[in-house]
Amino acid sequence: MAPHAKISTMNTETIIAIKRPDDWHLHLRDGDLMTGVLADTAKQFARAIIMPNLKPPITSVSQAGAYRDRILKSLPVGSKFQPLMTLYLTEATPPNEILSAKEAGFIHGVKLYPAGATTHSDAGVRDLLRCQNALKALEETGIPLLVHAEVTDPSVDIFDREAVFLEEILRPALDRHPKLKVVVEHITTRQAAEFVAQGEDRLAATLTAHHLLFNRNAIFQGGVRPHMYCLPVLKREEHRLSLLQAATSGSSRYFLGTDSAPHARETKENACGCAGCYTAYSALELYAEAFDAYGYLSRLEGFSSLHGPAFYGLPVNEGFVKLQRVPTVVPEHLIRGGIELVPLCAGERLAWSLLD
Ligand code: NCD
Ligand code: ZN
Repeated sequence: MAPHAKISTMNTETIIAIKRPDDWHLHLRDGDLMTGVLADTAKQFARAIIMPNLKPPITSVSQAGAYRDRILKSLPVGSKFQPLMTLYLTEATPPNEILSAKEAGFIHGVKLYPAGATTHSDAGVRDLLRCQNALKALEETGIPLLVHAEVTDPSVDIFDREAVFLEEILRPALDRHPKLKVVVEHITTRQAAEFVAQGEDRLAATLTAHHLLFNRNAIFQGGVRPHMYCLPVLKREEHRLSLLQAATSGSSRYFLGTDSAPHARETKENACGCAGCYTAYSALELYAEAFDAYGYLSRLEGFSSLHGPAFYGLPVNEGFVKLQRVPTVVPEHLIRGGIELVPLCAGERLAWSLLD
C-alpha cells in the first residue's frame, strides 16, 4: 500500500483519497482550444508536463516562457495549476539554449520527436548523432530527455516501431551519454516496459490510460474507430498486460502521463484522421478503472502522485483528490474553445467518479 492512499467505506460506497496527482505528458495546444481543455486537466492535476509540438514548435526558452504565460492567463479563476514547460529538440538546438533552460527554472524536459513520427513532428530529429552537443548539455544540467520512441522508417511495421527504436536508437544514445536522464514517453509494448525495468535509475516511462485499458482490437471493433487511433498505436493484448503489470508494480520508474491530445472531431473522423485521444476530461477515472480492474487500486497513488515528482526532483503536491465508486458516464462530445472533441470512452460508463 502506498504511504498516503486511504480507502474508506461509507454507506457501501468506496472512496479513495490520493495525494493530488500530476500529468507528466500533456498536449494543451494553444489559443481558444487551450483555454477550453486546460480546465479539464486543472480540476484533477496540480502540474503537467506540457508538450512543445505546436505550430511552430516551442524550440527556445523565450517561446516556452511566452507559452507558459498564455497558459497561466487562461487558467480558471483561483486555479493553482502549474505548467511544467518543455523544449522541442531539433538538430539545430544550441547547447546554450539548454543551459539557459536550466537557468530559467521553468523548463523541466526536452522532447525528442523523430521527424515524421507523430503530430507536428516534421521539425524533429532525423539523425540523433547531430544532437550530441545538446544531449551533453542535458547531461550537464540534469534536464531529462523525453522521448517519442518510434522509428519512422516506413519499411518497419508500425507495431514494431517502438521496440526497434529502443534497441537501435535509444540504447546507443544511453551508452554515448552515461548521465543522460530519459523518460520513454507513452510506452506501449512489453519490450519498452522491460527496457525501462532493466535499465539504470536514470530511466523512467510514462503510461497512458488508453494503453492500459485497450488493445489494438479496439481500433477495429465493428468498423474503423478513429477516436481509438493514437501514436504509438495500440498494441496486442499481451503488451497491454505487460503495461498494466508495470504500472501496478509499485516501481517508481513508471508514472502517469495521459498524452491527452485534443483534435477537432472532423479531423479525426476523416479519410486521413489525426492521431491522438482526448483523455483529460476523465483522466483519473480512466486510470482508476484500469488499476481497479487489475486489482491494484492501492498502487494508483504512487503511480499518479509520487513516482513522477521523485524522478523530476520536485516536491509531492499538497492536498488530496478523492474518487468514489459511483458510476459516471463520459459525455458523447465536448465543446472546448468552440471546437467539438470526442473524449475517450464517449458515452460509456466508468466505475469511478472524481469528487469535487
Ligand atoms: C499527439 C498529438 O496529437 O500531439 N498524438 C498522439 O497520437 N499521441 C502526439 C504524440 O504524443 O505522439
Ligand atoms: Zn504526446
